Amino acid sequence: MEMSIRIVKSQEKKTKPREDSLGFGKIFTDHMFVMDYNPDKGWHDPRVVPYGKIECDPSTMVFHYGQAIFEGMKAYLNDKGEPVLFRPMENIKRLNMSARRVCIPEFDEDQLLKGLKVLLDIERDWIPKAEGTSLYIRPFIIATDSCLGVNPSKTYKLMIILSPVGAYYAEGIKPIKIYVTEEYVRASKGGVGHIKTAGNYAASLYAAKEASDKGYTQVLWLDSKHHKYVEEVGTMNIFFKIDGKLITPPLEGSILPGITRASVIELASDMGISIEERPISIQEVYDAHSEGRLEEVFGTGTAAVISPVGTLCWRDNVIEVNNGQMGDLSRKIYDTITGIQYGKLEDKWGWIQRI
Ligand code: COI
Repeated sequence: MEMSIRIVKSQEKKTKPREDSLGFGKIFTDHMFVMDYNPDKGWHDPRVVPYGKIECDPSTMVFHYGQAIFEGMKAYLNDKGEPVLFRPMENIKRLNMSARRVCIPEFDEDQLLKGLKVLLDIERDWIPKAEGTSLYIRPFIIATDSCLGVNPSKTYKLMIILSPVGAYYAEGIKPIKIYVTEEYVRASKGGVGHIKTAGNYAASLYAAKEASDKGYTQVLWLDSKHHKYVEEVGTMNIFFKIDGKLITPPLEGSILPGITRASVIELASDMGISIEERPISIQEVYDAHSEGRLEEVFGTGTAAVISPVGTLCWRDNVIEVNNGQMGDLSRKIYDTITGIQYGKLEDKWGWIQRI
């Protein structure tokens, strides 16, 4: 059944930020989308309301057992100044996949896309115009029962908040330095590494802090069983160019099925680049580097877009990739995907949706 979306407009309009120093996820727009769940009504009362605080009881379940999932997507202004979304249904479906895994009731995907478009239509002036900027969209669902028993909550809140953003990393599109950890693991097969649940990110913080203390921007995670095969970078999937081929770890349950990852695989094959989704050990990466065959490394993600990796530190080895410079293929893929997102290149894939 089609639900109508209630709209309550904010009385005050915030001042829009300068677009040259947006950073990531620090500024929020005037409105947000909210919808509630209870067993009697199901998902109900979709509404766009002024952005603001939510009141929760200290015993609210999400604070204790982390039943929380989220997504990350972006709205862009195309070359005609129209707001567009990049493959939004893929994120919406992934949110429902995350919901299933942590016992959150699924929602109607078309209904959520409609709610998102209503919100974006109201907030369209918040989509920044400067190159490399966009309006980051954060849909999330939290468990809202007041209870300390370890059970799925009976009630939930789904919200969408919006944040005008620039580059995710302070480095921008400059290559980042990554630390390969053999001590900590992010996720195991059979666990929740393949969904976007809050706990995955909490689990990554300690290793990320240690890496940061050593001067690295991010951690590269290895598999939890052998501490040998490359998995992902936590905020992005990873690709290696070795001997002219692109290699990325396969989706076997512990890695996030990134939408940018999937798009890069399609774009690279379309460019005639051979692409392999297969286990790749950090030893193989190191050997390829020692033999001069490691040509490029880059990460992919909604927030990160295409982020070149200039340095990888594994044990005592510092691997400098492509002399610390962004590689030609990384640049070409960056230009292609952002060209499609900002409407400068033809979208022959049908990835772009108008709002
Ligand atoms: C995204 O790329 O949108 C993500 O969700 C990564 C985020 C944790 C910054």
